[in-house]
Amino acid sequence: MTDSNLAIVILAAGKGTRMKSATPKLLHKLAGVTVVSHVLATARELDAAHVVTVVRHERDRLVEVIEVDLPGSIIVDQDDVPGTGRAVEQAMDALPADFAGEVLVLNGDVPLLDAETLVAALRSHRESGVAATLLTTHLDDAHGYGRIVRGGDGGVDRIVEHADASDTELAVREINAGIYVFAAEPLRLALARITQGNSQGEKYLTDVVAILRGDNLSVLASPVSPAWKVEGINDRAQLASAAARLNAMIIRGWQLHGVTVIDPATTWIDMQVQLALDVEIKPGTQILGATTIDERAIIGPDTTLLDTEVGAGAIVKRTDATLAVIGPDAEVGPFSYLRPGTYLGADGKIGAFVETKNANIGAGSKVPHLSYIGDAEVGEKSNIGAGTIVANYDGVNKHRTTVGSHVRTGSHNVFVAPVTIGDGAYSGAGTVIRKDVPAGALAVNVAPQRNMDGWVVANRPGTAAANAAERSASDGASTT
Ligand code: UD1
Ligand code: CA
Repeated sequence: MTDSNLAIVILAAGKGTRMKSATPKLLHKLAGVTVVSHVLATARELDAAHVVTVVRHERDRLVEVIEVDLPGSIIVDQDDVPGTGRAVEQAMDALPADFAGEVLVLNGDVPLLDAETLVAALRSHRESGVAATLLTTHLDDAHGYGRIVRGGDGGVDRIVEHADASDTELAVREINAGIYVFAAEPLRLALARITQGNSQGEKYLTDVVAILRGDNLSVLASPVSPAWKVEGINDRAQLASAAARLNAMIIRGWQLHGVTVIDPATTWIDMQVQLALDVEIKPGTQILGATTIDERAIIGPDTTLLDTEVGAGAIVKRTDATLAVIGPDAEVGPFSYLRPGTYLGADGKIGAFVETKNANIGAGSKVPHLSYIGDAEVGEKSNIGAGTIVANYDGVNKHRTTVGSHVRTGSHNVFVAPVTIGDGAYSGAGTVIRKDVPAGALAVNVAPQRNMDGWVVANRPGTAAANAAERSASDGASTT
């Protein structure tokens, strides 16, 4: 049910300088989802009456994501005045002027915080009737965070930013998580009074705390544990550690839902992946994007699947697949490369050193060894010989190859597209198929073999090969 007294403000206008990236910080991904998408998803769960997202840096790219993940959000463009305080000040102007409920401020770069923690903070804020509630935690390495400065009575007095802190303040391990619940009215009044008088020349939202305290309003610190829930992403090291944390949670979740993960340390599973009962994941495997894996399938070792669908009981080892569909009980790998548009039917096989693309390989059909099958249709229960290449590209256009059902093609064939091989047809080893093969025909086009007796001894005298040939002849062995 919509919480009509709740407004959420998401801060997403910062530059993310410490990331040193052409991609905006908030659009870097963890578990296959952008940093800001994690925050937007949490905001969506809270079902607030108003959501405002403040943007500036790379605003168009962010707005694109916000419109998909949280379509109801009001977008506010932060002006030239820098700082989280200015961002919230402008967000407040976008709320109805008479809004007098609670304002929950979320930092766009704190992705692991869950809705339950926020609901609990909101509840304690409402019950205690304070002007502001800050989420805090204790960190061994508090570098970069705002520190909580407490007064003689143990209450929160103010927040000092890392850049402005004295040595004593830097020694404080209690940090500001950057997540707050404010009563709207005192927040508006306090924001109007903050200045840019600090080492970064920014309007700090954190200065609101001291202003409220100066007005004798109470501020509550709500400690969050474990601390990683409120860790911010400012650089790539923090991104990697948050991603590892999230991955470990995702894997544990699947393990508790009946999935075997042999080695969580070398397994990566994105947020949106779906796994069924008794799936087994072997070491060194990444299951990414919107991949789905059905019951009893065995994936890995050393496999990467992106946006791929794997049927029940399939076995996929040492494989790289993107936008592919692998049917039930099919077998893929080792060392197979399935590019977009690969469909492998039930009980089919794509074997060692095989590359496929836009290829529909029917139920029970096999491409076992060393082949390239692109822009092709293969019927059911056909066998494609080892070392077969579909020549789908004439240098200008791509053409399709159609192979029927129960076909047996020889080793080392080339199918020069466009070409059709009919049901039940065969081809000899080394055939270059340039013309259609009718159903049931045997296609051969290799010139008959001619043996030129004595060629090596006559033309390469004295070589090891010639000597071996001479020994063989004197042993009376047949050379025909
Ligand atoms: C902020 C807090 C700090 C806290 C930390 C927690 C301030 C002044 N400091 O510091 O006390 O410990 O978060 O992670 O608030 N943003 C805007 N507009 C701006 C600047 C930033 O929208 O002008 C957004 C950023 O996109 C980001 C969030 O606000 O999502 C926090 O900004 P960031 O620069 O990362 O603040 P910190 O230095 O981490
Ligand atoms: Ca930050």
